Amino acid sequence: MTGSDSGAARGRASTLLSLRGVAKAYGSLRAVDGASFDVARGSLTALIGPNGAGKTTTFDLIAAARRPDAGEIVFDGQRIDGLPPDRVFQRGLARTFQVPRPFANMTVLENVMLAPLQQAGERFWNNWFAPGRVRAQERAARDRAHQVLEVCALAGKAGDLAGQLSGGQQKLLELARVLMIEPKMILLDEPAAGVNPALLETLIDRVQLLNRQGITFLLIEHNMDMVMRICNPVIVMAQGRVLAQGEPQAVREDPQVIDAYLGEVAHG
Ligand SMILES: Nc1ncnc2c1ncn2[C@@H]1O[C@H](COP(=O)(O)OP(=O)(O)OP(=O)(O)O)[C@@H](O)[C@H]1O
Ligand SMILES: [Mg+2]
Repeated sequence: MTGSDSGAARGRASTLLSLRGVAKAYGSLRAVDGASFDVARGSLTALIGPNGAGKTTTFDLIAAARRPDAGEIVFDGQRIDGLPPDRVFQRGLARTFQVPRPFANMTVLENVMLAPLQQAGERFWNNWFAPGRVRAQERAARDRAHQVLEVCALAGKAGDLAGQLSGGQQKLLELARVLMIEPKMILLDEPAAGVNPALLETLIDRVQLLNRQGITFLLIEHNMDMVMRICNPVIVMAQGRVLAQGEPQAVREDPQVIDAYLGEVAHG
């Protein structure tokens, strides 16, 4: 009895995010089809797979943008499936989008400062009725926004309109936005896509820095060089299911994984 209790406690200590039998269909298409995997606390885990494998849908389910049809999602010891997205965010689980969605006509600084308000839901309305506190919080938010822009190599762009940023800088802005809440875990959807090589090095460097500071990452990425270089373990999805997971090199040499990618080239 005591043994199994301490075993469970160890499990909680090492696993931050856990999916069990998670499923989501769009009509007859099983986008996510009984996916199960764990993400270890403190890890920089990759989620890879051919186009249409269900990776982004999996992020939508974890971040509660969509409700799973079946399965359980546990974050930091508590079930989060079925919670509203702002609750999941408040618990310290943040996500970035495959296609960045900044407010193009607001400045970079304003975009970052908006992030917690946008996601805070009722907290915002509580503050609405206490203007003194709002002012203090706005000052704190501004200080924090400047900090996260510094971390994301965007300090020099604080006053620029977000719409004027390059594709790569918009990816960094996505990261800056989610850092505002000091998340425990960040889901990054294709951070390297459309990012020039120099800026990609900055992005990789910042992700690794934040990871060393204790933030757990789950990262969807098609850039295999980046995955092989910075991620461990690697989870491979194909057709809505987890096909393989483990050390990057072992996964790369797995015949099933090679088949899944070759199948994509052959058919699509
Ligand atoms: N809102 C939706 N309505 C209908 N089908 C969808 C919807 N979103 C995704 N799909 C389909 O679900 C499947 C999984 O899509 P998803 O975007 O999760 O794949 P992905 O692994 O992120 O692919 P990619 O690497 O191209 O981004 C695809 O066949 C896709 O066309
Ligand atoms: Mg996707």
